[in-house]
Formats: sequence, C-alpha cells, structure tokens
Amino acid sequence: YLTKAADQTNLESYVIGGFVRDFFLNRKKKDIDIDVVAVGSGIELAKKTAQLLPHQPKVQVFKNYGTAMLKAFDIEIEFVGARKESYAENSRNPEVEQGSLEDDQNRRDFTINALALQLNQDHFGKLLDPFNGLEDLQQKLIKTPLAPSLTYSDDPLRMMRAIRFAAQLNFKIENESLAAIESNSQRLKIVSKERLISEFNKIMLTEKPSKGIKLMHKTQLLGLLLPELTQLQGIDEVDGQTHKDNFWHTLEVVDNISKETNNLWLRWAALLHDIGKAPTKKFSKRNGWTFHGHEYIGAKMVFKLFKRLKMPLNDKMKYVQKLVLLSSRPIAIVDEEVTDSAVRRLIFDAGNHLDDLMILCEADITTKNPKRFKRYHNN
Ligand code: CTP
Repeated sequence: YLTKAADQTNLESYVIGGFVRDFFLNRKKKDIDIDVVAVGSGIELAKKTAQLLPHQPKVQVFKNYGTAMLKAFDIEIEFVGARKESYAENSRNPEVEQGSLEDDQNRRDFTINALALQLNQDHFGKLLDPFNGLEDLQQKLIKTPLAPSLTYSDDPLRMMRAIRFAAQLNFKIENESLAAIESNSQRLKIVSKERLISEFNKIMLTEKPSKGIKLMHKTQLLGLLLPELTQLQGIDEVDGQTHKDNFWHTLEVVDNISKETNNLWLRWAALLHDIGKAPTKKFSKRNGWTFHGHEYIGAKMVFKLFKRLKMPLNDKMKYVQKLVLLSSRPIAIVDEEVTDSAVRRLIFDAGNHLDDLMILCEADITTKNPKRFKRYHNN
C-alpha cells in the first residue's frame, strides 16, 4: 500500500529509523511502528495510503508539524516530510524547512537510526545509508551522524537515548560520543521529566539494567536524574571501621532482581531499597556504622522522588514505598513496636505483596533469612 501510494502521488518515499534498524537486527517487537518519510508532503502520502487501504483508516494530521499518522493492521505508521533543521544561535527551537532525504538523515540521532529503505516500485528496497549505519549495526556501535556535541546539545534527550540503545541492544557508545554526553550533561535539565523517565524505564527493563545505569553514572547523567542514588556511593572509614558501598551494592541487587522478574516497579523498589541510608548514616564508637530508621526515611524519599520526576503518585508509588520500607529488615520491623499508624498500615498489608517482597529480599544479598520472615508472616 505504501509503495502504491508513493507511486500514485509521485513522492519519493522511504521507510526510515527504528523499523529499518530492527529489521536489519532481526529484532522482534510487540508493537510495530513504522516511520515513513516523503520528499515533499508526508501528509499527502498518508492520505493516499489511507485511501488505498481496505479499511480506509482515519488519518490524524498534525498540521503544525507537517506530519500525519494512521493505523493499519495494528501497525502505527507515521508520515513526515523530509526536513532540514537549523538551530539559530539564540533559539532552542529549530527552524524547519523542506529538505532532501539526506537533510532528513542528517538531523537524526544515530547512524543506526538514519538508515532508509526506498518504497517506490522502481527502486523498492534500495538502502540509503550515507553514514555507514549498517556497518555500525554490525560493529554494535552507537555513533551520531553529525558531530556528537552538536547532536546532543540540539536535543539533549538523545544523551539518554544513546545510553538506552546501548543498554537495550548491548552496543557500545563510541568514545567521542561518551565524552560529548559528559560535557553536555547539564543540558539534561531542559528535557521534560516524562521523556526522561520514559527512557530510564526502558533501561530499567533491559536484561542487565546496571549496564545502562553505569553509563549514566560515568557520563554524570545519573546524578542529575537520581541524586539519591549517587549519594549512596563511597565508603567512609573511622577507627578502621568501614561500611559497604551502597551504590554498587544497589546495582547488584537490581541485576539480581532482573533475573527473576520483568515487573518494572519491583525493579524500581530494588533500585531505591537503600536510598534512606545516605541521610541516616552515623558512626559511633559503640555501634560502629549505623543507618537507623533508613527504611522509614527511604519510604518518604520515594514519595518525594516520584513527585519530583512527575511520576504518577498512584498505587505503583505506594507499592514501591511499601517494598522499600519492608525490604531491609523484614523480621525486625514486624517484631518492633511500631507506633506510627501510617507505617503500621503499610506493614500489615504487606501480605498483598508478600511474594514480591520475598523476591526483593532474596535479591538483596545482605538481607538475612527472608524465609524466616515468610514463616513469621504466615503465622
Ligand atoms: N529520532 C531522533 N531523535 C530523537 C528521537 C527520534 O533522531 N530524539 C529519530 C530516529 O531516527 C528514530 C526515529 O526518530 O529512529 C523514531 O524515534 P522513536 O520512535 O522514538 O524510536 P525508535 O528508533 O523507533 O526506537 P524504539 O521504537 O525502540 O523506541
């Protein structure tokens, strides 16, 4: 249908971006999105495609952006006109004008996302790959088409995307890009929280989330997004006594739990399970290093963190809070006289999530004896 539409409208048209990348990687996905770029009007191509499709779907037109979208056979197809973008020195918003396919490929984030396959019958399947994206796919490399600092400062979300793709595809980010991410890291502040969290959650859902989180740490992005975590880093020593580095420990717990569950929020609970330890850390001659009450403080910090990052303060947040509160010392907590009624309520309906709590305790390699807690609870 796309080919027919391209020929009938006489528009040079291509499939581009993620679909082409995943096609060459032979990567199967649940939801298929296709990005189509027309040299000329993407909206016209979308309307023609809709006309030709048997069910003649509705076309959503975004006139301001010159783009259109339709759904066919459960596939979302987005149409754009090839664009040339230039950023005026004193403006954050790009000036957009019509361009060639190559102009459009130039403004894309990574070489592996700039591959285009032609749709028109006469050249059907012809690959246009001006930046050797195919080679980078084979070499497993994340590289930008233009100078990295330009690509990242134009659109700072791409710093998170680079790390997300490296984590999802198990690729390496080329050194020049890594350096550019680090030097542009402060620009992350201008990106909306929702978009940042959406990328971060994709990292959290990879097989080994520590890979992406370590890259965020190395490039300074982690401290900007989740300072609660980076504050856990480091080991203090007084009188020859030390404590474990709770940052690196946390990454281990997140990887451990990711082997057991794809539940994003249980993975978040693992990520945040020790955050109360930075503000509660104390040393005394008698007791050595202690983190008294860190689970209560941690649960409060979960609320603040969700709020700051504009994540919904719904039952997911409460679930994470509850697990953070209970994960550290499940036995002691239940044994203790707890007077705070809000905390008591959280403890007594832990039963709803008992299995998840057990998975977390077992992933937290330092928690002693989670099975005893289960027995206790059952009794
Ligand atoms: N793109 C870009 N810069 C961004 C976002 C997107 O250049 N900040 C371009 C890339 O060419 C990308 C395409 O738009 O391939 C589509 O973006 P998106 O749908 O967000 O991602 P995909 O690459 O399709 O990957 P996924 O579906 O895994 O999110």
